[in-house]
Amino acid sequence: MKKVFICGLSSILVLLQTNAQITSVPVYLDDSKPIEMRVEDALSRITLEEKIAMIHAQSKFSTPGVPRLGIPEIGMSDGPHGVNKEIDWDSWNSAGWTNDSCTAFPALTCLAATFNPELSAIYGNAIGEEARFRKKDILLAPGVNIYRMPLNGRNFEYFGEDPHLASQMVVPYIKGVQQNGVSACMKHFALNNQEKWRGHIDVEISDRALYEIYLPAFKAGVQEGGVWAIMGSYNKYRGQHCSHHKRLINEILKGEWGFDGIVVSDWGSAHDTREAALYGLDVEMGTYTNGLTLSKNFAYNDYFLAQPYLEMLEKGELPQATLDDKIRRILRLNFRTNMNRNRPYGSFATKEHADVSRKIAEEGIVLLKNTNDFFPVHKERYKKIVVIGENAIRPLLVGGGSSDLKVKKEVSPLEGLINQYGADKISYTMGYGSGPPAYDRVIPSPYNADSLKREALLLVKDADVVLFFGGLNKNNQQDSESADRITYDLPFGQNELIEDLLKVNKNLGVILISGNGVAMPWLDKVQGLMQSWYLGSEAGTATANVIAGNVNPSGKLPFSIPQKLEDNGAIAFGTISYPGDSIRQIYKEDIFVGYRWHDIKKIPALFPFGYGLSYTTFDYGKISADKKEYSIDDIIKLSFTLTNKGNLDGAETVQIYVTQNNPSLVRPTKELKGFQKVFLKAGESKTTEISIPVKTIAFFDDKAHEWVVEPDKFTFHCATSSADIRSSVTVNVK
Ligand code: GLC
Repeated sequence: MKKVFICGLSSILVLLQTNAQITSVPVYLDDSKPIEMRVEDALSRITLEEKIAMIHAQSKFSTPGVPRLGIPEIGMSDGPHGVNKEIDWDSWNSAGWTNDSCTAFPALTCLAATFNPELSAIYGNAIGEEARFRKKDILLAPGVNIYRMPLNGRNFEYFGEDPHLASQMVVPYIKGVQQNGVSACMKHFALNNQEKWRGHIDVEISDRALYEIYLPAFKAGVQEGGVWAIMGSYNKYRGQHCSHHKRLINEILKGEWGFDGIVVSDWGSAHDTREAALYGLDVEMGTYTNGLTLSKNFAYNDYFLAQPYLEMLEKGELPQATLDDKIRRILRLNFRTNMNRNRPYGSFATKEHADVSRKIAEEGIVLLKNTNDFFPVHKERYKKIVVIGENAIRPLLVGGGSSDLKVKKEVSPLEGLINQYGADKISYTMGYGSGPPAYDRVIPSPYNADSLKREALLLVKDADVVLFFGGLNKNNQQDSESADRITYDLPFGQNELIEDLLKVNKNLGVILISGNGVAMPWLDKVQGLMQSWYLGSEAGTATANVIAGNVNPSGKLPFSIPQKLEDNGAIAFGTISYPGDSIRQIYKEDIFVGYRWHDIKKIPALFPFGYGLSYTTFDYGKISADKKEYSIDDIIKLSFTLTNKGNLDGAETVQIYVTQNNPSLVRPTKELKGFQKVFLKAGESKTTEISIPVKTIAFFDDKAHEWVVEPDKFTFHCATSSADIRSSVTVNVK
């Protein structure tokens, strides 16, 4: 008995003792403590060597944390349209896992084309759930670089040409991702608007263009989206690499905007230890040594922020304080992600995510031309529907660079059409073919173009209707990272093929799949035209739903499509403006990007920014403002009635552009400052109200270095596209 008593007593003592231990958990591990207190406590415990390890890669896509203190590694993954497959520890190769086939969501140009911020929130949450389930702490997305001209290889990853649209669409995406306890990582900060010479091209730009066009989406992501990470870009600005940039990062991002997260380099975009230490780079990622040379493996200690930085700190050549600031920011990210016990657990490659992907794809497709109600292609109207074009079958989610995905499924347009119309009604031949997926070099097409064409011309002879699926793909010099397009024309002989097909059968519609505008010499001869996108896992289902009329298209162009390349502002000023002289380039079109250029130069676009048709028609009532006069802190309430006059439910994105009547310095003819996607049943009328804070109609005075709203008259235009104003109202701002 006695023995049992002592044993019991000692176990109670042990219990009390461990209990005491549990209640005395260190502050940095105590969820009940505020994050900043936990940050300071953790910082006080980390050694210099451990700090140096935290601020650079330990592998392709992770940093080490502090194993001794139980501060976890930070795992990262591309990309903006889906969570990439697992990558090897120390190479770009696939790790060969078999549980990492994801849902591919539409490219961000498609999301932008929906003009629907609510969908962007749903998109962000879904992709955030996938990243969370795959145990990633940072999703390297979204990209928000402005679409400056139609040759940039990565425009398909971004939100188009207008800063207001990009700002409105990026904020919900970031919030959606981060509500899963996964950090978004807005990129590429900044001025990475082309792929040619991206590693070093030195951009020269006015402060007006920088602040009014290229920074707003980043600023919105920080100040409204609360983004926890930002990726520095490869290129230079004012002679300094953007990933460690005194003005861009220290003064603007962290200074003026108050960004409290981490700046991650692009992979190999760091180039100097002293600059990286002092000019705001918090985490250096890359490959092999300095991220660019493939000299050796496991070279992470050679990184600029690794051994070289430690040596300079130990010699007192660099201050400890800037290192501690980096550590604070990294710890803050840890506490917001993998050290936050309350974050959800995510989900992966589910039916729900596939439905989200399809819905966004359906809302992003843009109907550009529809003569004689070519679309929708009514099932009962036709017996023989002929589909032509490689893009009807080509996998378009692999390649293109870092947004490359290994997907659970990808429904092609042909598959979607066969599911929709039945195999007996659908005939197909390729018509044209490109090379195998390769985005680091051009591989010529292995096909015999003539025989492909002959077969296509034969097949369309007795077709009731022809659907041509063309556009670009993710190959090198198409829509792809690390190289720009070398022509504005459609590649692989598509233009000639379309012309030849039209000679055989006039009842032909074109569906372009791309992330960039293209020249369309055949436009007047085709009956129907859709601008479609890299639509993700449910591409074919979404496409067939729109073509068959199950879904009424409501997309609007997020960028202008010029008639010819020279009509674009960046191209109009010659090579110094694009692509630059291989050392530097000057954004000579300045603030006149996209429709701003078409307006001020009075050059009509082939298809203007904000343009998109519907299977129904909308009637615009006159716009009115709630007051005649406003002061700087007011909100302008605009209202108008919109009526769906057709017999089909539909949605119309009404755009509000603003003109300052007598500005003291040059301003664009008009600028997008508001938009609203209005869903209306057939015959339904709705009075819609759009609020515009007076502060948002300011221009950036680069002499005074501040945003200015001058007392003046301002005209608000209610428009269905940037080239089609339906009514206007002028108000006075005191
Ligand atoms: C690439 C891209 C960037 C990507 C990163 C990691 O070079 O520029 O967008 O997230 O490297 O793959």
